[in-house]
Amino acid sequence: MSHLLVTGGAGFVGANFVHHVLAHTDHRVTVLDKLTYAGNRASLAGLDPTRFTLVEGDINDAPLVDQLVAGTDATIHFAAESHNDNSLTNPRPFVDTNIVGTYTLLEAVRKYDARLHHVSTDEVFGDLELGSPERFTESTPYMPSSPYSSSKAASDMLVRAWVRSFGVRATISNSSNNYGPFQHVEKFIPRQITNVLRGIRPKLYGDGRNVRDWIHVDDHSAAVLAVLERGRVGETYLIGAEGERNNKDVVETILEEMGHPRDAYDRVTDRPGHDLRYAIDSTKLRTELGWQPRFTNFTAGLRATIQWYRDHEPWWAPMKIASELRYAAHELRLDDMTG
Ligand code: NAD
Ligand code: DAU
Repeated sequence: MSHLLVTGGAGFVGANFVHHVLAHTDHRVTVLDKLTYAGNRASLAGLDPTRFTLVEGDINDAPLVDQLVAGTDATIHFAAESHNDNSLTNPRPFVDTNIVGTYTLLEAVRKYDARLHHVSTDEVFGDLELGSPERFTESTPYMPSSPYSSSKAASDMLVRAWVRSFGVRATISNSSNNYGPFQHVEKFIPRQITNVLRGIRPKLYGDGRNVRDWIHVDDHSAAVLAVLERGRVGETYLIGAEGERNNKDVVETILEEMGHPRDAYDRVTDRPGHDLRYAIDSTKLRTELGWQPRFTNFTAGLRATIQWYRDHEPWWAPMKIASELRYAAHELRLDDMTG
């Protein structure tokens, strides 16, 4: 049995990982989370207090991070500013948390010779042509497009340097787009589901041809656990479940599943620098670590996710108004920029 430190465990992917670990292992978990607008205590409510603790704090608080790293067996690093649209409006917190925060954590794991798993994104590779057979692999060159993805790319590079220069025992995973319970309503799928539940028309950026490679968050959690337990130190593993879909198709499927006409959505100003297509080749993860996704039917996974948001309105209602107000201000700014 191990004691895991999970940074960012009150966010979407981190909270799902905590639930997964507590359900499928006998590890103990301590979460370190700043509880920004994206962190939510309610996502961790009801967990066994003998195996789970939440510490509210910043990954840039070096003495606190030192103390927590020293008192645990391994750290899984999810904490980040995670939303591309926000990074276009105000990049600063992305630099502070994603780059400087990762540096702070690396110095602590270096000091205590602790095991680290760094959770990252496929966006570090930039984007692919629509319709091409190409997919990202562990050797694809980094070519990030947005302030968010460039800050994650910088954090990956720091981890690699700390492995090579200081012998830090770290692994990295780069995943495609996760979906499932507890995702903040600013993100594409929950934004459209909760829009429909509120009687607001879904919003599609541009022509909606952009492709994302969707993976259920529980499959992501299982993959991260596999890398933590069986991955080779110093290695990177790409996580993806062959879930390519364009945004137009996703929004139309949401509308259909919720009993509305497939065309009952609005097209809005496109995201500046909008990446066209992501696609993951996860051969290394599958062959080396024996990981397989369980959620292979995207429409069924989406249906279950829609049901989760129907059943958990008290979880998302407080953040919905604030999120849509941020989008209204964001759209005004974009209209100014594009004339
Ligand atoms: P999220 O925004 O839902 O959660 C981020 C969490 O980090 C929040 O709980 C927030 O309070 C916390 N946090 C932010 N700044 C902090 C700080 N300075 N100190 C401590 N905690 C802080 O994000 P997410 O979607 O759950 O993503 C989590 C991680 O997974 C990120 O590193 C992201 O890059 C990566 N990732 C996400 C996806 C995805 O599809 N969501 C895909 C690939 C990789
Ligand atoms: O690929 C992994 C990444 O996936 C993670 O690293 C990020 O943390 C995560 O947020 C996600 O990034 P995206 O930018 O792909 O996700 P988002 O949910 O913001 O948007 C998904 C797609 O939907 C993207 O092409 C933009 C589009 N979109 C988004 C919103 C919010 C819309 O068309 N309308 C919308 O209202």
